[in-house]
Amino acid sequence: MKYPHFSLFCFLVFSCFSITTSIAQEKGVENKIEVLLSKMTLFEKIGQMNQINGRNPSEKLSGQIRSGEIGSMLNIGSPELANSLQKIAKEESRLGIPLIIARDVIHGFKTMFPIPLGQAASFHPEMVELGARIAAKEASEKGIRWTFAPMMDIARDARWGRIAESFGEDTYLSEIMAVAMVKGFQGKDLSNPSSIAACAKHFIAYGAAEGGRDYNSTNIPERQLRNIYLPPFEKAIREANCATVMTSFNANDGIPASGNEFLLKNVLRKEWGFDGVVVSDWGSIKEMVQIGFSEDNKEAAMKGVNAGVDIEMASGVYLENIEALIAEGKLQQKTIDDAVRNILRLKFKLGLFDNPYTNLKAKSSIYSQEHLQAAKQAAEESFVLLKNKNNILPLSNKIKTVAIIGPMADAPHDQMGTWTFDGEKAMTQTPLQALKKQYGKDVKFIYEQGLAFSRDTIKANFSKAVAAAKQADAVLVFVGEEAILSGEAHSLAEINLKGAQSELIAELSKTGKPIVTLVMAGRPLTIGKEVELSDAVLYLWHPGTMGGPAVADILFGKSIPSGKLPVTFPKYVGQIPVYYNHDRVGRPADKTETLLNDIPLEAKQSSLGTSSYYLDAGFDNLFDFGYGLSYSSFEYENLVLSRDSLNPTDVLSITVDLKNIGKFQATEIVQLYTADLAGSTARPVKELKDFKRINLKPGETKKVEFTLPMEKLAFWDINNNKVVEPGKFTLMVGGNSQEVLKKEFTVLQ
Ligand code: GLC
Repeated sequence: MKYPHFSLFCFLVFSCFSITTSIAQEKGVENKIEVLLSKMTLFEKIGQMNQINGRNPSEKLSGQIRSGEIGSMLNIGSPELANSLQKIAKEESRLGIPLIIARDVIHGFKTMFPIPLGQAASFHPEMVELGARIAAKEASEKGIRWTFAPMMDIARDARWGRIAESFGEDTYLSEIMAVAMVKGFQGKDLSNPSSIAACAKHFIAYGAAEGGRDYNSTNIPERQLRNIYLPPFEKAIREANCATVMTSFNANDGIPASGNEFLLKNVLRKEWGFDGVVVSDWGSIKEMVQIGFSEDNKEAAMKGVNAGVDIEMASGVYLENIEALIAEGKLQQKTIDDAVRNILRLKFKLGLFDNPYTNLKAKSSIYSQEHLQAAKQAAEESFVLLKNKNNILPLSNKIKTVAIIGPMADAPHDQMGTWTFDGEKAMTQTPLQALKKQYGKDVKFIYEQGLAFSRDTIKANFSKAVAAAKQADAVLVFVGEEAILSGEAHSLAEINLKGAQSELIAELSKTGKPIVTLVMAGRPLTIGKEVELSDAVLYLWHPGTMGGPAVADILFGKSIPSGKLPVTFPKYVGQIPVYYNHDRVGRPADKTETLLNDIPLEAKQSSLGTSSYYLDAGFDNLFDFGYGLSYSSFEYENLVLSRDSLNPTDVLSITVDLKNIGKFQATEIVQLYTADLAGSTARPVKELKDFKRINLKPGETKKVEFTLPMEKLAFWDINNNKVVEPGKFTLMVGGNSQEVLKKEFTVLQ
């Protein structure tokens, strides 16, 4: 090559050009913000901090927008209305500052994807990103440019209804999924009309509500916040430039998130350099009065603004109080200006000043075949096969008659799950519909609901269900939770199957027919008894619009289940909180414990040993984090580490041989865990550090490679510094968190 470095020279020139361009653009935006800010009255600044609910717009709305009293709105009913309100803001208000229109687009807008907990079970971030991209395309067509998602709360308590909206109990998996979803919503360029601002929520530790009761207090110390709850938010901001953050309802250690200056200023702004918008969760500013953190709305408004909440959603306490607080010297003008800068910056980044209106003439992508197909794939990959005795699944071609039973077999509304404001049940394809449509030529399906809905206790139709089962070669029982039983404010003290669902399964199992139990739910359920009575169990979560076609193809083997549990399933609700990456304890159970019915009469005080377990439940779980079966089987051999001792800045290379020893081409999610055997504080028994989706043909072996930078072992230590501590570690690789190959290595001083 005549000029060997010419291409490198071009690359460097282009890189410098693009970096200088983005710096210039940012400077340009900052200049525009300053120019605009200098023109704004205090009233107009406060208006930008005021977000109102557009669900039942008052007749004063046009005037409020014209006067600059409103900066953003959520829940606007139509793109036409959004455009008309935007026109008032843009063309009739004094400074023409556009509105931002927001909505909860959590796991789909019209085309519903699985609930986030189900999407996490796919361990497929690219699929999660695609689902969010599709949701953004569909929502932005309707004038929505800001969604209050992804929720990245770590959830270790299945009694908490919002576990459905989370990515589960693991910090690393939640980080990966949060980044993927933010990238999907925001696209490559936030100013693109199909991009919508994402929102990292709920900041912080909302999922640790005491008793799993929504909105309840949390008491998570700073070190645990930093090691467990904060990392997904930090990654969403640092790696995906998440545009906004929402404060949570809970008070942590007595301080409500919306009034927590340490978290909102020291951590979010100073440590992470966040320059986006912080929005309250609904009335969480006003609720600081109810919590007893503020005397009245005025003090709550003062604490919210001073803590760093830029926008107050829905309850109007900023609008009503900030002017007086400034006059009384309880709020500084600079604090208001900083909040308004963040809001204007977001509006500039969204391109709303230049392009405020939604193109109502553009061809709609809503429910396109591409979107529906993606939703189907996402559902297939979210399913977790928990049991498959004698490989009854996939249903063989000898199966000619199949009974379809249960309240969730044809439940188009409930199948979508929680947070589906814009979903349309008429578009949901249910298992009953899909099985008949896709496999009805070769298989006779007999359908009997047995129960009308998940809480139904009327057993009058059990006999019909049993009769149908007796005619069948296999019985599919669709049970679980109506959508309303999970999500916000829907906590449960018992997490068993509701109504008479369990009895229905028991009656069906008496027929002696093969029973396949399929569970649509927004959380782990204590289904140990039902698992015992079933030959196979498939966990569907709430699978969304295309759950039917997805489960039909999985049942008949056109697709192969690959999902793994993103949450631990307890045997009893009394075990909660239960999660795989718990800290070590001084007296761990070792499965030699004496259980309740084995205790001798008049047993001596210490005769049962002294380890950490339940007399009536033992120690182990129903199903563990990372667990999930396939129609094929996989063998792990030859775990090899590149070195057995490393410096804190080194990178460890790992290989393991994975073999598909089954009959189906299938995907295995290979999981890599580490255990820090001793630290300046007690450390988790293991932590997920990486995973890979590996697809193998029957008989195929692949050497799976991982690299593990020692910096990934860093944690916030006894002095609340993030460090890689020297010492012994165990590295584990396997198909779930319990069955793993192990090797030791040491991190040197
Ligand atoms: C709700 C939820 C929050 C949601 C917001 C707007 O109370 O807690 O997740 O985004 O209000 O609907």
